Amino acid sequence: MIVNALVAAAGSGTRLGFDTPKAFVQLAGRTLLERSLDALADSERIDRAVVLVSPDMREAAEGLVADPINRASWAGMSVSVALGGGERMDSVFAGLEELRRRGVTGSSLVAIHDAARCLVPPALIREVVDKAAEGVERQAWWGAVPVMPVTDTIKIVDEATSGPADGETLLEQTPNRDTLRAAQTPQVCELDALYEANLAYMRTTEISSAHASRQAGNQPLQLATDDASLLEMSGKRVVAVNGDLMAMKITTPLDYRIAEMLLNSDSKDVNRGLCDGTPR
Ligand code: CTP
Ligand code: MG
Repeated sequence: MIVNALVAAAGSGTRLGFDTPKAFVQLAGRTLLERSLDALADSERIDRAVVLVSPDMREAAEGLVADPINRASWAGMSVSVALGGGERMDSVFAGLEELRRRGVTGSSLVAIHDAARCLVPPALIREVVDKAAEGVERQAWWGAVPVMPVTDTIKIVDEATSGPADGETLLEQTPNRDTLRAAQTPQVCELDALYEANLAYMRTTEISSAHASRQAGNQPLQLATDDASLLEMSGKRVVAVNGDLMAMKITTPLDYRIAEMLLNSDSKDVNRGLCDGTPR
């Protein structure tokens, strides 16, 4: 089965706070985007990768892709650049459209990966791709997602409702932590199923926002923040794979420092044995 990758590399990295958009920030001498492509290529599961960037970073991305050293280390995986969109979801949809323009449909897989998760171990990518392929072949499930157990207790708050006093936020509920998982990428899905789920979601959110704006007080549906949730919403089964701490998303300056320290340390402690997502 052909495996395509869409690398979400648009967005500005506001929380990280560099002048450069996050995917193009250097981490120990190599950009987050290059490191993500290294991992995808090293997994030896990806045939073709499309990198989604904002218009002002297109040239920079094309430069990285054309670099002879990169081309050599990504040999075996074709890499191209396309324009993303305003939200992550728009970037992914633009990537799905790009694959369709190139005539890629039918029984193939798509691995959606955040450029910001640039330390993802190639072995994890292999596991997620193989798990998705297994389900799609048996028509038993349509996608696979790496997940981590949640270590903090999670609270649900309702910021729309006023708290017990001005400026206070009321804690509403505490979901059972045993049933919670944090989702990572790559999220690997059957290509056509994910495309259809995106279309269905866009139709629903259009209806929902029109409804919300007609009826004051109604909220439009919440924005989907990952890809698997769209499949879940359309009733297609998605299965979990134990994630890995190394697939953390570099979001804040602290995450960046941690990633830098991990790369600079000689420690062999940084491996799946210590970092995998087996629930305990
Ligand atoms: N992303 C994207 N298109 C967007 C927004 C984000 O492709 N319009 C990508 C980012 O490049 C990143 C991934 O989606 O690899 C996860 O998003 P996030 O961590 O939120 O990155 P940014 O949106 O760039 O950061 P911030 O929200 O702090 O501005
Ligand atoms: Mg963002």
